[in-house]
Amino acid sequence: MEANIVLLPGDGIGPEVVSAAVRVLEAVARRGGHTFHFSQHLIGGCAIDACGTALTDETLKACQQADAVLLGAVGGPKWDDPTAPVRPEQGLLALRKGLGVFANLRPVKVHPRLVSASPLRPEKLAGVDLVVVRELTGGLYFGQPKGRSLVDGKRRAVDTLEYTEGEIERIVELAFRLAQSRRKKLASVDKANVLESSRLWRQVTVEVSQRFPDVALEHVLVDTAAMRLVANPAAFDVMVTENMFGDILTDEAAVLVGSMGLLPSASLGSGGPGLYEPIHGSAPDIAGQGIANPCGTILSAALLLRHSLGLEAEAVAVERAVERALDDGALTRDLGGSLGTEAMTEEILRRL
Ligand code: IPM
Ligand code: MG
Repeated sequence: MEANIVLLPGDGIGPEVVSAAVRVLEAVARRGGHTFHFSQHLIGGCAIDACGTALTDETLKACQQADAVLLGAVGGPKWDDPTAPVRPEQGLLALRKGLGVFANLRPVKVHPRLVSASPLRPEKLAGVDLVVVRELTGGLYFGQPKGRSLVDGKRRAVDTLEYTEGEIERIVELAFRLAQSRRKKLASVDKANVLESSRLWRQVTVEVSQRFPDVALEHVLVDTAAMRLVANPAAFDVMVTENMFGDILTDEAAVLVGSMGLLPSASLGSGGPGLYEPIHGSAPDIAGQGIANPCGTILSAALLLRHSLGLEAEAVAVERAVERALDDGALTRDLGGSLGTEAMTEEILRRL
């Protein structure tokens, strides 16, 4: 097959991990007789430096016209001034919104070989295999009004947590369908004891659940979910939740697998191109040293093959290659090993 893939390496370790994933995609293309056309664009801090904005119209347009988008990371101390008029993260949020990718899938599977890399006790980690479905284009990140004002000469700031019925319905439906294809358990995570938006979320979720009688639905308050995610993580199958709750819970979930560097994500809308990115950030402290763990991005490329290109066998092959490399003890520094980004990528390529 032929596909156009836009690469957005971004900032920090982004370029290093994206080029590792491109090597894997190129190997997949060679073996399967596919042609992937790659084009590279700016996003985040590097776009601010070059163009004064974190996401140019040109980058957004290229992404909208692509079959899929692979992103590294955005941000860094250089652009962290809280009074700056533009921030790298705005580029990422505008891209997610501009692509309409409302569903962010974050699979979390503990690899047996890496149990010791997690601070949790091994018996807690056995059998952990869950997916967080994070709503990505609404909620606290996008609600209006947001901004600053002055009240009696004192500064005031506002963010708004807003959801419409339609926004809740489409993400919850997607989560139910995913649960149907797995262990048929869905935990809807909210804060319905306090937030009106969560009470609507719960209502709509119950309504949608009527269409999925084979899936066991439970409602979990987000504070309890945070606790259960470390107390009994293996009990979760699919979790679905608001944008910011999902952001927080998936960083917590990364502790289960041993490193932020391992977790991939797929952001999907209805139709259009998918956006694929590791859940980790730009890691400015190790940027440019060639030691970043490429697995999160390589596994994101596997999700790209599966969800945007329909290449299931190829996706599984990439996932197996990563698993086997880890099995054989090929480990980057974040996992207690000594391999750099390139050496780790070679290990994965050899097993592909
Ligand atoms: C993530 C990140 C982003 C988010 C940041 C970089 C804006 O933390 O993808 O989890 O909060 O969504
Ligand atoms: Mg995050």
